[in-house]
Amino acid sequence: MSAKDIDFNNLGFNYIKTDYRFRSNYKDGQWDAGELTSDNTVTISEGSPALHYGQQCFEGLKAYRCKDGSINLFRPDRNAVRMQQSCQRLLMPEVPTDVFVEACRAVVKANEAYIPPYGTGGSLYLRPYLIGVGDNIGVSPASEYIFSIFCMPVGPYFAGGLTPTNFVVSSYDRAAPNGTGAAKVGGNYAASFIAGKEAHERKFSDAIYLDPATHTYIEEVGAANFFGITANDEFVTPLSPSILPSITKYSLLYLAEHRLGLKATERKVAIADLAEFKEAGACGTAAVISPIGGIQHGDDFHVFYSETEVGPITKRLYDELVGIQYGDVEAPADWIV
Ligand code: COI
Repeated sequence: MSAKDIDFNNLGFNYIKTDYRFRSNYKDGQWDAGELTSDNTVTISEGSPALHYGQQCFEGLKAYRCKDGSINLFRPDRNAVRMQQSCQRLLMPEVPTDVFVEACRAVVKANEAYIPPYGTGGSLYLRPYLIGVGDNIGVSPASEYIFSIFCMPVGPYFAGGLTPTNFVVSSYDRAAPNGTGAAKVGGNYAASFIAGKEAHERKFSDAIYLDPATHTYIEEVGAANFFGITANDEFVTPLSPSILPSITKYSLLYLAEHRLGLKATERKVAIADLAEFKEAGACGTAAVISPIGGIQHGDDFHVFYSETEVGPITKRLYDELVGIQYGDVEAPADWIV
């Protein structure tokens, strides 16, 4: 689809082929310089460890069209560092931060026509990924890798946008204790498909995962992190070694404390204690901030602020975060490229 055929006011979160993607190959112990290509297919050996053993990782970040026509990338260095951590976990070669950020800039510039205009609420979603390839069917790391970044224009990830939606606690685990939950690797997401499917069949937006060791504490909300606002206006988000360290979550912890003047805490959040929160939401690059109306846990359905209206503190956090991303609100140092 060419950029001029896209209805930027009605985007969901779907693959749209854009004009260029960055691609770099790792061979004989080093990355090549990489280049932009218009080919959106990847040809790899059938023996590639990415195909059989899930030796791969990915990232998600966004570029925003500002009111003055300029383009903002939100904290791409944080995605570079998180991808390096995923690579360490799966014994894959890291991409240096400057190479990662420069490749993001190149992809955004080359696909500028696909950035949703300011005011549509859309953004250009960048999907970096790194896969182990080559003739290597033994259960061991690949010796060759591909690092690529493609992009697509997106709208809201959860259908409601800023309208609250409901979630259901799943009995499936998305990751194991001491496993790969904190790494952004495909296996965590494939493992969550069945829980998501069952949640959708019951008309919920997605599944909520509890800690895999004891099933006592909230870990993640679908492919996003959880946050709640307590009765005394504290911003709380779960702390656990098996949840993904969301860049949006850490940005909200900072903004809650330094811009909204709230106490902001990472700590365990027991599923039995939902009543301590007057507002709750899911946060992530794709999800942005999606208010949670209510959570179904067994036979109990707990409603937070409202099933139809976003709560006031969630709205203030959203306005601050999204204002920074679109360049309408002053950003903390080094958050915008
Ligand atoms: C993101 O928020 O960027 C994610 O990666 C979540 C999901 C779309 C996989």
